[in-house]
Amino acid sequence: MIYKSAILGCGPRAEIHMQAYKGLDEIRLGALCDMNRERLDACGDKYGINRRYADLQEMLKREKPDILHIVTPPAIREEPMLLAAQAGVRGIIVEKPIALDPAQAGDIRYIAELKGLKVAVNTQRRYFATCRQLKKVLDDRLIGDIQWVRIVTKGNILSMGPHMVDLLLFFLGDLSPVSVWAAASGMNGYDYGHPAPADMLIRYIFPDGITAYCEDAAGAVGTIGEEDFWQHLEFDFWGSRGRAWWRQNSDWGYHIEGEAAPVVETTSWARSDVPGQREFTRAMAAWLDGREVHLNNLETALQGFEAIMGAFLSACTGQVIDLPATVPNETIHKLIEKLEQ
Ligand SMILES: NC(=O)c1ccc[n+]([C@@H]2O[C@H](COP(=O)([O-])OP(=O)(O)OC[C@H]3O[C@@H](n4cnc5c(N)ncnc54)[C@H](O)[C@@H]3O)[C@@H](O)[C@H]2O)c1
Repeated sequence: MIYKSAILGCGPRAEIHMQAYKGLDEIRLGALCDMNRERLDACGDKYGINRRYADLQEMLKREKPDILHIVTPPAIREEPMLLAAQAGVRGIIVEKPIALDPAQAGDIRYIAELKGLKVAVNTQRRYFATCRQLKKVLDDRLIGDIQWVRIVTKGNILSMGPHMVDLLLFFLGDLSPVSVWAAASGMNGYDYGHPAPADMLIRYIFPDGITAYCEDAAGAVGTIGEEDFWQHLEFDFWGSRGRAWWRQNSDWGYHIEGEAAPVVETTSWARSDVPGQREFTRAMAAWLDGREVHLNNLETALQGFEAIMGAFLSACTGQVIDLPATVPNETIHKLIEKLEQ
């Protein structure tokens, strides 16, 4: 079956969603919607999409897509999901972060369950070839038991943080952390569209004592030589028999103890972003067919989001938080108010 899709939002990120349709046979992109006419026409012209709308409800009514991409700022998530479900959409591809606070995440879960929507959250790196290769190295225990993980990124915890936490959970086989300890300072850092602390240091402990130290900070050392803040994303795994690493736009590899040299492969953002987005989008067709659950399904994404909210609670209270934890909505806003002063 060939599914029909439409995209809400024609900002910079949506262009990658559009480019990913080249060579994708299972889904046909039929229409675009943006209330900004200039952006709508620029994308429509560039990607050859003639069915264009300024109003989501009108697009849904006329186009009747099976899949809707929601590529809007993070405050705009629930209403488009609800309207889409009411119009018969079955699959939602929604950008990260899935929410800005626990109340919004709860509403999204409720809508998805109530309407039987299949929701995939766009932390697309699970579909990058190099991430899957590294995961195989870890799954095959080439470096033994993972003991420590160090992660560095520069965009704030609601901007690059969802990618960081999602990949961490992916690499660890979707284990849930059992506790979190975090410190926060400053506000926003590089990303003003995603209200969150500028700098966070987070320690997650996973079953079997696996410890992950995350430095998600505007002032992090990052990857030497990278100029764009969002290019700074790197993982180091220390195992009982070796180490492995992944840097977003440089290299990945592993070094088994006793071997003369590490195995090293190149990573390239330019060669990963669109192909990864294509495989992510293709996986929605497989999910709708009932062939395979999407790796970035809502449950998995909410597990990552809850880990982030746990870090907010820890930073707010100064305490180690056992996970899973119920994080009151006010906590998030209290922490942000405190850091804004
Ligand atoms: N996955 C990734 O690698 C990645 C990379 C960059 C950004 N993002 C995420 O993508 C999302 C969008 O980012 P962006 O920079 O493209 O945002 P943006 O704000 O530049 O663009 C969003 C567009 O949506 C339109 N829009 C919003 N609400 C609308 C509505 N109700 N009806 C019609 N049009 C509407 C706006 O007019 C705007 O053109 C953010 O959540 C961001 O975090 C993800």
